[in-house]
Amino acid sequence: MNQVFSEKRIKNQMIKNRFVLPPLVTFNFSENGFVNERKLNHYKQIANNGIGMIVVEATAVHPNGRLSDDQLGIWDDKFIPGLRKLADVVHKADCKVLIQIHHAGAKTKVTGLEDIVSASDYKNARALSLKEIQDIILDFKAAALRAEKAGFDGVEVHGAHGYLLTQFFSLKSNKRNDNYGGSFENRIRIAEEIYKEIKRVTSNDFIIGIRMGCNENSLNESKRFAKTFEKIGYDYLSVSTGLDASQIEKPTHFPYHWIVYGGSEIKKAVNIPVIGVYKIKDKEQIEYLINENLLDFVAVGRGQLADYNFTKHLRNNEKILTCLECNPCQWRIDGSKCPRQRQVRQKNAN
Ligand SMILES: Cc1cc2nc3c(=O)[nH]c(=O)nc-3n(C[C@H](O)[C@H](O)[C@H](O)COP(=O)(O)O)c2cc1C
Ligand code: SF4
Repeated sequence: MNQVFSEKRIKNQMIKNRFVLPPLVTFNFSENGFVNERKLNHYKQIANNGIGMIVVEATAVHPNGRLSDDQLGIWDDKFIPGLRKLADVVHKADCKVLIQIHHAGAKTKVTGLEDIVSASDYKNARALSLKEIQDIILDFKAAALRAEKAGFDGVEVHGAHGYLLTQFFSLKSNKRNDNYGGSFENRIRIAEEIYKEIKRVTSNDFIIGIRMGCNENSLNESKRFAKTFEKIGYDYLSVSTGLDASQIEKPTHFPYHWIVYGGSEIKKAVNIPVIGVYKIKDKEQIEYLINENLLDFVAVGRGQLADYNFTKHLRNNEKILTCLECNPCQWRIDGSKCPRQRQVRQKNAN
């Protein structure tokens, strides 16, 4: 039986189908970290197509941990009213909505900011003191509390893609010799403490997920990370890449990308739901991954940026406006520069 449009629970919340919008920053769709009409419209259009869950883009827990001056913010209560509007437009479409909470660490890029921090002296960053680590853990907690106040169904802690948490997880970037470095238990400690702090202040139904790498040091160690995240209490895992894009080996018979393979291997290691991602773009691929129980949820990122109606087209067996895999994706600079979005605008104008 085709399970793609079947419900599945994450914690106590029912997700109406197996499609997820993974977090995708849309820098030029906000100003000074606030949600604006453009941002609302962006998420509304995707939600209206019948997707099960949206994870709103990486949102900064501290102004000095931002990826860009225009990154969405959640470090102050002043952001709550705008975030509430965002949660509301998605909920109106009967779609669950989470928000990814994020600190960029050594990848921070804020105009005029020179004091960049990381797990250790790494690239252009300096090592955080123990007190500063505690402060950042509290920033994540305060961010999650604001997310719940704004009406989100949960948060996704960003533990992937080379940002601060991966700088703690990875042996390549973490050279500390205190309680936050060295052994596996020490390197994962920051994610454990973030979970515990969030849990203390949010309600029982509030989802706390984590995005992680399937290549964090190795696939084997990533499985250990996954099992430990489950043991700590995280409600789901979204599997992508870790500190960097070092490839893991994938058997030749596995038909999709190694990151998707990593997700499917991690699924075998845990009992909580697993979201997989990377260049998943058509009905056949999605049905295979879900119906063969290789993943619990499939995240389609650029595919939904290129075609806002992706879920609707898929459900109705209509033609999808496939992502052209531009390099780099124009959405990183300006969503309106995406050639597929331009095509739709031109068609609508004619
Ligand atoms: C424009 C753009 C913005 C992204 N922003 C985020 C982000 O905020 N947080 C995150 O975890 N991943 C981010 N990613 C990675 C995506 O969530 C996803 O993992 C990646 O695009 C691969 O999936 P896809 O092949 O379906 O696009 C971003 C990717 C793109 C192209
Ligand atoms: S800019 Fe290119 S890569 Fe990015 S979503 Fe559009 S078509 Fe895909």
